[in-house]
Amino acid sequence: MKRIAVFGSGTGSNFVALQEAFGSQIKLVISDQKEAGILQKAEKQGIPTIYEPGGRDLCQRMRSHLEGIDLICLAGFMRLIKEPLLSDFEGRILNIHPSLLPAYPGLYAWKQALEDGAQESGCTVHYVDAGMDTGEVILQARVPVLPEDTEESLHERIQVQEHRIYPQAVQMVLDLLD
Ligand code: GAR
Repeated sequence: MKRIAVFGSGTGSNFVALQEAFGSQIKLVISDQKEAGILQKAEKQGIPTIYEPGGRDLCQRMRSHLEGIDLICLAGFMRLIKEPLLSDFEGRILNIHPSLLPAYPGLYAWKQALEDGAQESGCTVHYVDAGMDTGEVILQARVPVLPEDTEESLHERIQVQEHRIYPQAVQMVLDLLD
């Protein structure tokens, strides 16, 4: 059984989707935000949590908690992944991003799509490299952008697809790691 760590900075809905799919394979949740919903949700499930504030050597500090971990899933983690994680977990760090990459990398991708007048958007699960939202794509899902959409309604529609494809993509990668 491969062991998974999840990193997140926000509410943790993607963590919940992963937890429902992979149960006790999720061994650890790390957040750079002390009050993040993802930490509270993990604690409720009895999953060990760690708060590591941003700043110097964040990735070094996170690395020290990852002995025995096979796969890292970023789930709304709002910091760039750096060394030593990139080398030590090459091909074993995934991210979910709320757009059809390479369109709209970075923050508030659903807002970027709305402001751009896009007719459709979606979400992408990809491998993490040193860039921002640039790694190889594993799975994508499309959603329409409707004329009456607000930032909230579009993000909500995208998140329904995130929760569907993130576990699928993780399973695909776990199968490759075997
Ligand atoms: C998700 O929509 C995820 O795609 C996005 O943050 C949200 C986290 O929600 N990630 C990024 O924008 C990364 N660039 P969650 O905390 O409910 O899973």
